[in-house]
Amino acid sequence: MQVNQRHRKGILLAGGNGTRLHPLTIGISKHLLPVYDKPMIYYSLSLLMLADVREILVITCPKNQSNFQDLLGDGSQWGIELSYTVQDQPNGIAEALVIAEDFLAGSPSCLVLGDNLLYGHNLTSYLKQASAQIEGATILACHVNDPSAFGVVELDENDKPISITEKPANPTSHNAVPGIYFYDENAPAMVSKLVPSSRGELEITDLNRLYLQQGKLDVCLLNRGFAWFDTGTHSSINEASDFIKAIEKRMGLKIGCPEEIAYLKRWVSAETILANVQTNPNSDYNKYLQFMVNQNPDNHQ
Ligand code: G1P
Repeated sequence: MQVNQRHRKGILLAGGNGTRLHPLTIGISKHLLPVYDKPMIYYSLSLLMLADVREILVITCPKNQSNFQDLLGDGSQWGIELSYTVQDQPNGIAEALVIAEDFLAGSPSCLVLGDNLLYGHNLTSYLKQASAQIEGATILACHVNDPSAFGVVELDENDKPISITEKPANPTSHNAVPGIYFYDENAPAMVSKLVPSSRGELEITDLNRLYLQQGKLDVCLLNRGFAWFDTGTHSSINEASDFIKAIEKRMGLKIGCPEEIAYLKRWVSAETILANVQTNPNSDYNKYLQFMVNQNPDNHQ
């Protein structure tokens, strides 16, 4: 496998009006709602950080942008660089690549949906493997009981993609496509060839199909040790919360904790983490950060 020399930039898409979740999302973006002990967006941001993506554009709807800036800041507390822009209308996931075109400036990208959560053995190596592809697009695929609510990819006996369809009424496989996509530098130009779907959106599945037609779509099939949640409904938010709670309580370790990822990657010092902890030592989250730093003294800079 060839390794990409240009560094990959991240796009974190947290737009939309969350109308399906009203009244929960009248006063706050869906992506800032809690999934157990942290805001939903921490989990997708963590995926980018685990993939070693450190320059990230956060796309929100205009109304909520300042809430995201209050929460995430400029990213320096986690050794990353965050910038912000808006998606004026919910015109579809693929539009994020056009909105991000100037930010990307010809770099390959990793687009993550702010309501997706992934947890499983060797996640980091899956992400790094996908990120290392120099050409084309790489998507993930995950076995689900009912794939009809997602993008669905059909694979041949060598796990090569044959077809990809958005929310098929009669799915050809159980392999749903999670909301994390790795693209080469051609993606923004390819989106301009797409036309809106019947729901009026530029579909990410249509972009992935263009790559497939060019023979440039790779699929990384997640094994059954993975949990993937798309937290777009009341019950999926609750299911994801219960899952995170069960694992975190049992293990005493957190999932989707940007401070921990940054610290273990040596992107920030113990002093940076602990300075923030001291501002609010009573929070359980901050107590965990203190514990995490104590547990990993070798990472002290
Ligand atoms: C979107 C994509 C779909 C993908 C899903 C993952 O669905 O269109 O292909 O499987 O995200 O969360 P939507 O959120 O628009 O229903």
